[in-house]
Amino acid sequence: MTKPAVLVTGGAGYVGSHVCKALDRAGFLPVAYDNLATGHRWAVKWGPLEEGDVRDGYRVETVLRRYRATAVLHFAALSLVGASAKQPFDYYDVNVNGALSLSHAMRQCGLRKLVFSSTCAVYGMPERMPIEEEAPRLPVNVYGRTKLAAEHLFADLAAAGEIDVVMLRYFNACGADRDGEIGEAHEPESHLIPLAIQAALGAGGPLSLFGTDYPTPDGTCLRDYIHVEDLAEAHLKALTLLETKSGAHAFNLGTGIGVSVREVLAAVGKLAGKPVPVNEGPRREGDAPQLYASPAKAERELGWRAQATDIESMVGSAINWHRKPLPAA
Ligand SMILES: NC(=O)c1ccc[n+]([C@@H]2O[C@H](COP(=O)([O-])OP(=O)(O)OC[C@H]3O[C@@H](n4cnc5c(N)ncnc54)[C@H](O)[C@@H]3O)[C@@H](O)[C@H]2O)c1
Repeated sequence: MTKPAVLVTGGAGYVGSHVCKALDRAGFLPVAYDNLATGHRWAVKWGPLEEGDVRDGYRVETVLRRYRATAVLHFAALSLVGASAKQPFDYYDVNVNGALSLSHAMRQCGLRKLVFSSTCAVYGMPERMPIEEEAPRLPVNVYGRTKLAAEHLFADLAAAGEIDVVMLRYFNACGADRDGEIGEAHEPESHLIPLAIQAALGAGGPLSLFGTDYPTPDGTCLRDYIHVEDLAEAHLKALTLLETKSGAHAFNLGTGIGVSVREVLAAVGKLAGKPVPVNEGPRREGDAPQLYASPAKAERELGWRAQATDIESMVGSAINWHRKPLPAA
């Protein structure tokens, strides 16, 4: 029997490639559709790579038809908060126009099932912790606004009966495949854990720590780190949910635990065997003191719960990956 194909836009990227591995294990054929803007050819191992731009609806449609895709997992996006303020056109074009082109291609093929990579950035700086799905969505940066716009698009299409969608709002994705086959390789890197590992291993300068006077136990920001393999598992659960549920569904994906920057640095220093060199500086505009999820709805309705909850195990998988040379392109 042939495996059911799933189109994975952004399948050559960090989260998308880990999901492709999980899809393969679960008996699907993951078809990575990616323009390799930030993704890597070496990360596509569990199915074909179809090079293309998500804004090219005709090309997406051709690929959907060629593989008779049964669902779409949509990761392709530009996702750097700082860059989004400098290049709003590009961010709206890829993240919103891309979502529209993709929806059009799905409609042309009569395809309804969609899983969308959203983000906790849609919430902005909420006052109440933990963050529930019903919290006001008031993003504070261009990136968050583009992801929220895509959420509105997909929810409106679902309300009109055109698609069924699960929107997964990831908190801070981290870690790497525990078999060591793939991992995080962003260029430029903006995420705390890989930056701290690079600093500890001498592959980058000292880490800039923005703000040590927040109203948190150790004065540094709290974030909810979620292992990329746990995220991958949630996507499989989302596909299962779409077999029986129509409409639009949104879930937070986090552990529900706020981990401080200093706790991350301590874990990296311990596991790397060297302290992370740090430059302490003032707060950075737009950084919320704390952001952590309520994963209760995902547990209740998606049947998903993070397996990795201690920061050392997450950091450990990332360090193993970063110690190895990057695979050849
Ligand atoms: N990494 C995180 O912590 C995090 C947190 C919340 C949400 N997200 C979301 O998850 C998704 C994946 O994030 P990631 O960290 O894996 O990013 P990534 O940059 O590693 O992956 C994005 C992939 O999309 C591809 N892509 C970009 N523009 C494209 C286009 N126009 N057409 C086709 N492909 C295109 C890139 O080449 C890349 O392979 C994004 O939608 C992001 O907004 C990530």
